Amino acid sequence: MVVNVSSPNTPGLRDLQAEGVLRDLLTGVRAELDGVAPGKPLFVKIAPDLADAGIDAAVDAALESRCDGLICTNTTIQRSGLSYDAQWVAERGAGGLSGAPVRARSTAVLARVARRLRAGGHDAMPLIGVGGIDSAEAAWEKIGHGASLVQVYTGLIMRGPWLVRTIVEGLRERLDRCGLASIQAAVGREL
Ligand SMILES: Cc1cc2nc3c(=O)[nH]c(=O)nc-3n(C[C@H](O)[C@H](O)[C@H](O)COP(=O)(O)O)c2cc1C
Repeated sequence: MVVNVSSPNTPGLRDLQAEGVLRDLLTGVRAELDGVAPGKPLFVKIAPDLADAGIDAAVDAALESRCDGLICTNTTIQRSGLSYDAQWVAERGAGGLSGAPVRARSTAVLARVARRLRAGGHDAMPLIGVGGIDSAEAAWEKIGHGASLVQVYTGLIMRGPWLVRTIVEGLRERLDRCGLASIQAAVGREL
């Protein structure tokens, strides 16, 4: 089960990422889940627009409420670095931006989460990296920055279903090049 408190498309949803609110929410969900589906993994999905303190607080809330992992990240409300005319972009309205424009920020958030977990001795906690993965290189980047699983959404739409094969083959090549036996050995190497 994933608690998604990070979509910019639902008014007020991201307010649930506030420290105490998130801890209470996750603790409540964990308790319910333990009752109806013991052992079911619980993840929390966070926004790329959180400030550093907010990221740290989300990690701490996830740990305190015995979450099994975090998903980094949802779409962004930022509109920087786009090649489109700013006016045209503004006219498209509010909402989350996905794909290539969110890739670097998502990876930065992922890395901060992974470092905080590592510092607290929780580096076995799985992280799902998502945001702008449209190639093996982009998936490798997430893995190197702490993801033990990756999710593709926009990349799948832009590149088509063969993207998955391309990523798998590219990851295998990179493992061979680095002399690593498994993806697990590559997780967090860039931190
Ligand atoms: C059209 C669309 C709908 C989405 N709906 C959800 C959703 O319902 N719940 C959620 O957690 N994330 C949702 N997301 C966010 C994606 O799961 C993902 O976190 C984000 O798009 C970044 O990955 P990407 O760059 O590969 O698309 C949605 C994204 C898009 C583009």
